Amino acid sequence: MTRHFLRDDDVTPAEQAAILDLAVAMKQDRWGAKPLAGPQSVAVIFDKSSTRTRVSFHVGISDLGGIPLIISTANSQLGGKETPSDTARVLERMVSAIVWRTYGQDGLEEMAAGTTVPVVNALSDDFHPCQLLADLLTIREHRGALAGQTVAFVGDGRSNMAQSYLLACATAGMHVRVAAPDTFDPSPDVVTAAENRAAETGGSVLVVSDPVAAVAGADVVVTDTWVSMGKEDEKLERLRIFEPYRVDDRLMSHAAPDAVFMHCLPADRGYEVTADVIDGPRSIIWDEAENRLHAQKALLAWLLAA
Ligand code: CP
Repeated sequence: MTRHFLRDDDVTPAEQAAILDLAVAMKQDRWGAKPLAGPQSVAVIFDKSSTRTRVSFHVGISDLGGIPLIISTANSQLGGKETPSDTARVLERMVSAIVWRTYGQDGLEEMAAGTTVPVVNALSDDFHPCQLLADLLTIREHRGALAGQTVAFVGDGRSNMAQSYLLACATAGMHVRVAAPDTFDPSPDVVTAAENRAAETGGSVLVVSDPVAAVAGADVVVTDTWVSMGKEDEKLERLRIFEPYRVDDRLMSHAAPDAVFMHCLPADRGYEVTADVIDGPRSIIWDEAENRLHAQKALLAWLLAA
């Protein structure tokens, strides 16, 4: 059966660990694995802007011996002109995998249901699971084994990053906390799925409105933009609501003394995080950005072998 990666809990805890182990090996020997030799092609489709995802998939597919086909929906038939399933039926005749950055999770599910090649979520409104593989790899590098560590996400609890943090960290056996305004809590379905995973792995899940309660003693503090792609019309209202959730030195002082700071980028300095924190000694954002490459290469290799 074709495996897809549409959300973080599409892999089991053991599978997630295996992908991260493979990412470590691929980072150590960057050009040593060529599972896309042939060369096989991978379609990488963007409905939204991107720097890191576009470049890391392009470079990663090339590293693996394949050919990346970077497609913008604006100049393809996808995006209202052709259904995801019809697009997938065509692409599967020519490519070995489909990577798609889009809006609704339902489009990804339709595409995956209609094709014989792996479909990868390169960010949707609900989840950003490729980013979380990179984040977990980065935490492992800086802080060691994932299980038992505490991660605090501060900001928009409904965002794709917050929801992926819940699922991915629970899968890794971590203690994951989200601090968000009450009106921006994560989806109850996602919280339940994360709680179920945490029960399996020994992790835990906590959703609170108080950022200090979330960050207290945390090993990793994370935030993301307050204005996700597609939410630009709500910008002024969001800046007002999220003001108490800025990650600054005062909030970081509640974390563990050796806590690290992460942000998937792009960042709005002075809004969700101060320059002192994101550009300070606890920030590991550049390793986090680089690890998109290694984690996604491992994911593609794993999916093609599954
Ligand atoms: N973090 C991330 O997904 O970056 P891009 O939007 O630049 O791809």
